[in-house]
Amino acid sequence: MDGNGRWAEMRGLPRITGHQRGAEAVRTAVEAAPAVGITDLTLYAFSSDNWKRPAAEVSALMKLLAAYLESEAAACARKGVRLSVIGRRDRLSAGLRRLIESTERLTAPGERVHVRLAIDYSSRDTLLRAAEACSGRELTREALAAHLPAPDVDLLIRTAGEQRLSDFLLWECAYAEFVFTDLMWPDFTAEDLGAAINVFHSRNRRFGGLPPYTFQSGATGARDHHEATRS
Ligand code: IPE
Ligand code: MG
Repeated sequence: MDGNGRWAEMRGLPRITGHQRGAEAVRTAVEAAPAVGITDLTLYAFSSDNWKRPAAEVSALMKLLAAYLESEAAACARKGVRLSVIGRRDRLSAGLRRLIESTERLTAPGERVHVRLAIDYSSRDTLLRAAEACSGRELTREALAAHLPAPDVDLLIRTAGEQRLSDFLLWECAYAEFVFTDLMWPDFTAEDLGAAINVFHSRNRRFGGLPPYTFQSGATGARDHHEATRS
Protein backbone atom coordinates (compact mmCIF):
# COMPACT_ATOMS: atom_id res chain seq x y z
CA MET A 1 0.00 0.00 0.00
CA ASP A 2 2.23 2.77 -1.27
CA GLY A 3 1.49 6.27 -2.46
CA ASN A 4 -0.87 7.64 0.19
CA GLY A 5 1.40 10.60 0.84
CA ARG A 6 1.93 11.41 -2.84
CA TRP A 7 -1.80 11.04 -3.53
CA ALA A 8 -2.40 13.81 -0.99
CA GLU A 9 0.56 16.00 -1.96
CA MET A 10 -0.52 15.98 -5.62
CA ARG A 11 -3.80 17.49 -4.46
CA GLY A 12 -2.29 19.98 -2.04
CA LEU A 13 -3.74 18.05 0.89
CA PRO A 14 -2.03 16.98 4.13
CA ARG A 15 -0.35 13.56 3.92
CA ILE A 16 -2.65 12.19 6.61
CA THR A 17 -5.63 12.78 4.31
CA GLY A 18 -3.90 10.42 1.90
CA HIS A 19 -3.57 7.84 4.66
CA GLN A 20 -7.27 8.24 5.48
CA ARG A 21 -8.14 7.63 1.83
CA GLY A 22 -5.73 4.70 1.90
CA ALA A 23 -7.71 3.17 4.75
CA GLU A 24 -10.82 3.37 2.58
CA ALA A 25 -8.96 1.55 -0.19
CA VAL A 26 -8.14 -1.16 2.38
CA ARG A 27 -11.84 -1.59 3.12
CA THR A 28 -12.52 -1.90 -0.61
CA ALA A 29 -9.75 -4.46 -1.15
CA VAL A 30 -10.77 -6.58 1.84
CA GLU A 31 -14.38 -6.54 0.66
CA ALA A 32 -13.39 -7.51 -2.89
CA ALA A 33 -10.83 -10.20 -2.04
CA PRO A 34 -13.02 -13.30 -1.60
CA ALA A 35 -14.83 -12.77 -4.93
CA VAL A 36 -11.53 -12.91 -6.84
CA GLY A 37 -10.38 -16.05 -5.03
CA ILE A 38 -8.09 -14.52 -2.42
CA THR A 39 -8.01 -16.52 0.82
CA ASP A 40 -5.04 -14.75 2.42
CA LEU A 41 -4.31 -11.05 2.07
CA THR A 42 -1.35 -9.42 3.82
CA LEU A 43 -1.29 -5.63 3.79
CA TYR A 44 1.87 -3.68 4.58
CA ALA A 45 0.48 -0.89 6.75
CA PHE A 46 3.52 0.24 8.76
CA SER A 47 7.06 -1.04 8.42
CA SER A 48 9.61 -1.06 11.21
CA ASP A 49 11.49 1.53 9.18
CA ASN A 50 8.45 3.82 9.08
CA TRP A 51 9.32 4.86 12.67
CA LYS A 52 11.86 7.15 10.97
CA ARG A 53 9.04 9.40 9.75
CA PRO A 54 8.14 12.63 11.57
CA ALA A 55 6.51 11.96 14.94
CA ALA A 56 3.29 13.70 13.88
CA GLU A 57 2.84 11.39 10.87
CA VAL A 58 3.67 8.29 12.92
CA SER A 59 1.18 9.24 15.59
CA ALA A 60 -1.52 10.02 13.00
CA LEU A 61 -0.90 6.63 11.36
CA MET A 62 -1.17 4.84 14.71
CA LYS A 63 -4.46 6.62 15.42
CA LEU A 64 -5.71 5.66 11.99
CA LEU A 65 -4.78 2.02 12.49
CA ALA A 66 -6.60 1.98 15.81
CA ALA A 67 -9.64 3.65 14.24
CA TYR A 68 -9.59 1.11 11.41
CA LEU A 69 -9.58 -1.83 13.81
CA GLU A 70 -12.24 -0.26 15.97
CA SER A 71 -14.58 0.47 13.09
CA GLU A 72 -13.99 -2.74 11.11
CA ALA A 73 -13.79 -5.52 13.70
CA ALA A 74 -17.52 -6.17 14.03
CA ALA A 75 -18.18 -5.94 10.28
CA CYS A 76 -15.26 -8.28 9.56
CA ALA A 77 -16.56 -10.80 12.09
CA ARG A 78 -20.01 -10.64 10.47
CA LYS A 79 -18.58 -11.17 6.99
CA GLY A 80 -16.28 -14.07 7.86
CA VAL A 81 -13.14 -11.96 7.56
CA ARG A 82 -10.40 -13.00 9.97
CA LEU A 83 -8.26 -10.01 10.85
CA SER A 84 -4.87 -10.39 12.47
CA VAL A 85 -1.78 -8.29 12.89
CA ILE A 86 1.79 -9.37 12.18
CA GLY A 87 4.90 -7.56 13.38
CA ARG A 88 6.32 -6.39 16.68
CA ARG A 89 3.82 -5.33 19.33
CA ASP A 90 6.13 -4.18 22.10
CA ARG A 91 6.61 -0.73 20.56
CA LEU A 92 2.88 -0.11 20.02
CA SER A 93 0.77 1.73 22.58
CA ALA A 94 -1.04 -0.40 25.17
CA GLY A 95 -4.34 0.83 23.74
CA LEU A 96 -3.51 -0.29 20.19
CA ARG A 97 -2.23 -3.63 21.50
CA ARG A 98 -5.52 -4.22 23.34
CA LEU A 99 -7.48 -3.32 20.21
CA ILE A 100 -5.42 -5.73 18.13
CA GLU A 101 -6.01 -8.52 20.65
CA SER A 102 -9.76 -7.93 20.84
CA THR A 103 -10.07 -7.70 17.04
CA GLU A 104 -8.14 -10.94 16.61
CA ARG A 105 -10.34 -12.68 19.19
CA LEU A 106 -13.57 -11.41 17.69
CA THR A 107 -12.69 -12.28 14.08
CA ALA A 108 -10.80 -15.55 14.75
CA PRO A 109 -13.63 -17.80 13.48
CA GLY A 110 -13.68 -16.03 10.06
CA GLU A 111 -13.04 -18.43 7.21
CA ARG A 112 -13.72 -16.47 4.02
CA VAL A 113 -10.47 -14.56 3.93
CA HIS A 114 -7.60 -14.11 6.38
CA VAL A 115 -6.41 -10.51 6.32
CA ARG A 116 -3.08 -9.83 7.99
CA LEU A 117 -2.14 -6.24 8.68
CA ALA A 118 1.61 -5.82 8.95
CA ILE A 119 2.31 -3.20 11.62
CA ASP A 120 5.85 -2.48 12.89
CA TYR A 121 6.80 -5.30 10.56
CA SER A 122 10.26 -6.17 9.29
CA SER A 123 10.78 -9.38 7.38
CA ARG A 124 14.44 -9.57 8.39
CA ASP A 125 13.56 -9.27 12.08
CA THR A 126 10.75 -11.80 11.68
CA LEU A 127 13.20 -14.26 10.10
CA LEU A 128 15.69 -13.76 12.94
CA ARG A 129 12.99 -14.43 15.53
CA ALA A 130 11.81 -17.52 13.63
CA ALA A 131 15.37 -18.85 13.49
CA GLU A 132 15.75 -18.22 17.22
CA ALA A 133 12.53 -20.10 17.89
CA CYS A 134 13.99 -23.10 16.07
CA SER A 135 17.16 -23.14 18.12
CA GLY A 136 18.10 -26.53 19.49
CA ARG A 137 16.23 -28.27 16.68
CA GLU A 138 17.23 -29.00 13.12
CA LEU A 139 16.81 -25.83 11.08
CA THR A 140 14.79 -26.91 8.05
CA ARG A 141 12.68 -24.88 5.63
CA GLU A 142 9.52 -26.34 7.14
CA ALA A 143 10.62 -25.71 10.74
CA LEU A 144 11.45 -22.09 9.98
CA ALA A 145 8.30 -21.47 7.96
CA ALA A 146 6.20 -22.82 10.84
CA HIS A 147 7.35 -19.81 12.88
CA LEU A 148 6.52 -17.26 10.19
CA PRO A 149 3.25 -15.35 10.55
CA ALA A 150 2.17 -15.43 6.90
CA PRO A 151 1.93 -18.10 4.21
CA ASP A 152 3.96 -18.19 1.00
CA VAL A 153 2.97 -15.36 -1.32
CA ASP A 154 1.50 -16.14 -4.74
CA LEU A 155 1.02 -12.56 -5.88
CA LEU A 156 2.65 -9.38 -4.62
CA ILE A 157 1.11 -6.10 -5.76
CA ARG A 158 3.01 -2.88 -5.22
CA THR A 159 1.43 0.46 -6.01
CA ALA A 160 2.76 3.97 -6.66
CA GLY A 161 5.39 3.00 -9.22
CA GLU A 162 7.89 1.58 -6.74
CA GLN A 163 9.52 -1.72 -7.60
CA ARG A 164 11.11 -3.07 -4.44
CA LEU A 165 10.26 -5.33 -1.51
CA SER A 166 11.14 -2.94 1.33
CA ASP A 167 11.71 -5.73 3.89
CA PHE A 168 8.28 -7.30 3.27
CA LEU A 169 7.78 -11.10 3.36
CA LEU A 170 11.24 -11.84 1.97
CA TRP A 171 11.13 -15.60 2.58
CA GLU A 172 7.47 -15.92 1.69
CA CYS A 173 8.00 -14.17 -1.68
CA ALA A 174 10.53 -16.77 -2.88
CA TYR A 175 8.26 -17.63 -5.84
CA ALA A 176 5.82 -14.74 -5.73
CA GLU A 177 4.61 -13.19 -8.95
CA PHE A 178 5.01 -9.41 -8.93
CA VAL A 179 2.54 -6.90 -10.29
CA PHE A 180 3.58 -3.26 -10.22
CA THR A 181 1.21 -0.41 -10.88
CA ASP A 182 1.68 3.35 -11.03
CA LEU A 183 -1.66 3.86 -9.27
CA MET A 184 -1.40 5.48 -5.86
CA TRP A 185 -2.86 3.19 -3.19
CA PRO A 186 -5.92 5.40 -2.47
CA ASP A 187 -6.87 5.07 -6.17
CA PHE A 188 -6.56 1.26 -6.18
CA THR A 189 -10.07 -0.14 -6.73
CA ALA A 190 -11.76 -3.54 -6.67
CA GLU A 191 -11.42 -3.54 -10.50
CA ASP A 192 -7.68 -2.98 -10.19
CA LEU A 193 -7.45 -5.91 -7.79
CA GLY A 194 -9.37 -8.07 -10.25
CA ALA A 195 -7.07 -6.96 -13.08
CA ALA A 196 -3.97 -7.87 -11.04
CA ILE A 197 -5.47 -11.29 -10.36
CA ASN A 198 -6.04 -11.76 -14.09
CA VAL A 199 -2.39 -10.89 -14.77
CA PHE A 200 -1.41 -13.42 -12.11
CA HIS A 201 -3.48 -16.14 -13.79
CA SER A 202 -1.84 -15.37 -17.13
CA ARG A 203 1.65 -16.02 -15.71
CA ASN A 204 3.42 -19.28 -16.39
CA ARG A 205 4.69 -20.36 -12.97
CA ARG A 206 7.41 -22.98 -13.08
CA PHE A 207 8.99 -22.83 -9.61
CA GLY A 208 12.37 -23.49 -11.20
CA GLY A 209 11.12 -26.49 -13.15
CA LEU A 210 9.89 -26.77 -16.70
CA PRO A 211 6.32 -26.40 -17.88
CA PRO A 212 4.50 -29.65 -18.62
CA TYR A 213 5.20 -30.57 -22.25
CA THR A 214 2.27 -30.45 -24.58
CA PHE A 215 4.42 -31.80 -27.38
CA GLN A 216 8.00 -32.96 -27.82
CA SER A 217 10.16 -32.39 -30.84
CA GLY A 218 13.47 -33.92 -29.97
CA ALA A 219 16.09 -31.88 -28.14
CA THR A 220 14.39 -28.56 -28.86
CA GLY A 221 11.10 -29.59 -27.25
CA ALA A 222 11.42 -27.30 -24.26
CA ARG A 223 12.26 -24.25 -26.36
CA ASP A 224 9.48 -25.00 -28.82
CA HIS A 225 7.07 -25.21 -25.94
CA HIS A 226 8.14 -21.87 -24.52
CA GLU A 227 7.66 -20.29 -27.93
CA ALA A 228 4.28 -21.95 -28.29
CA THR A 229 3.06 -20.72 -24.91
CA ARG A 230 4.29 -17.19 -25.56
CA SER A 231 2.52 -16.80 -28.85
C1 IPE B 1 1.92 4.19 2.26
O1 IPE B 1 1.94 5.50 1.82
C2 IPE B 1 1.52 4.05 3.71
C3 IPE B 1 2.64 3.88 4.66
C4 IPE B 1 3.84 3.50 4.36
C5 IPE B 1 2.35 4.16 6.05
P1 IPE B 1 3.25 6.39 1.90
O2 IPE B 1 3.17 7.20 3.15
O3 IPE B 1 4.48 5.56 1.77
O4 IPE B 1 3.06 7.33 0.65
P2 IPE B 1 4.21 7.99 -0.23
O5 IPE B 1 5.17 6.92 -0.64
O6 IPE B 1 4.87 9.05 0.60
O7 IPE B 1 3.47 8.56 -1.41
MG1 MG C 1 5.89 5.24 0.34
